[in-house]
Amino acid sequence: MKTELLYEGKAKKVYRTKDRQDQLVLAYKNDATAFNGEKKSSFDGKGRLNNEISSYIFHYLSEQNISSHFIEKLNETEQLVSETKIIPIEVVVRNLATGSITKRLGIEEKTPFSPPLVELFYKDDALGDPLINDEHALILSDATTEDLAGIKQMTLHINNVLQKLFLEINLTLVDFKLEFGRLKDGSIVLSDEISPDTCRLWDLDTQEKMDKDVFRQDLGDLLHVYKVILQRLEARS
Ligand code: TMP
Ligand code: ASP
Repeated sequence: MKTELLYEGKAKKVYRTKDRQDQLVLAYKNDATAFNGEKKSSFDGKGRLNNEISSYIFHYLSEQNISSHFIEKLNETEQLVSETKIIPIEVVVRNLATGSITKRLGIEEKTPFSPPLVELFYKDDALGDPLINDEHALILSDATTEDLAGIKQMTLHINNVLQKLFLEINLTLVDFKLEFGRLKDGSIVLSDEISPDTCRLWDLDTQEKMDKDVFRQDLGDLLHVYKVILQRLEARS
């Protein structure tokens, strides 16, 4: 199925496919990185867990009529996606304050944001993914004002859908990061992954962190936490 390696990122590899020019294979790696790659480790089975969790979520979103690059899960660590040209903007949604915003703006931990707060970051490792505003985004990408408005609208809708999904499995969706890409026809769809690597999820009862903060902050067994999330998702369907 997969042929030439097109790109290797921190958590995934992207391959061309043999048969279809407009489809790619995403292969999830076992690596975990944090703080712009300064902290690195590898966890046997993490790639499988993130592929299973992200596939589950993208499949669920497609059932809710949210279009994305996701086509199907191919095997334990790989998925087939439509080729998109990634828009180099990371769109972060925050329902509760934690992480970088508490340090950057001195906002107290757990302050609720209603409506949810949307932030844009420029996807550029060499620059450390800096926070940008809409005007920067227009300069740094080929997105138009209308594209940005559409991306924000999709992002807030996805937040509503995911908040409900995670609530069903006893998790609070604290914040998360989305990426969008352009299909050949120019339309913009949700892309990349949605997993505990890209979301902050807190257990509703215990308030325990159930996401990559376990690795970032050395809080315990990362694989166990990811396994619990997959088990809870699989138990609801
Ligand atoms: P932050 O509080 O560090 O800005 O992170 C906000 C959200 O974005 C959090 O859910 C983790 C996610 N995120 C990524 O997916 N990739 C990244 O590179 C960073 C910095 C954050
Ligand atoms: N993904 C980023 C990195 O690898 C940052 C993070 O998620 O904390 O460094």
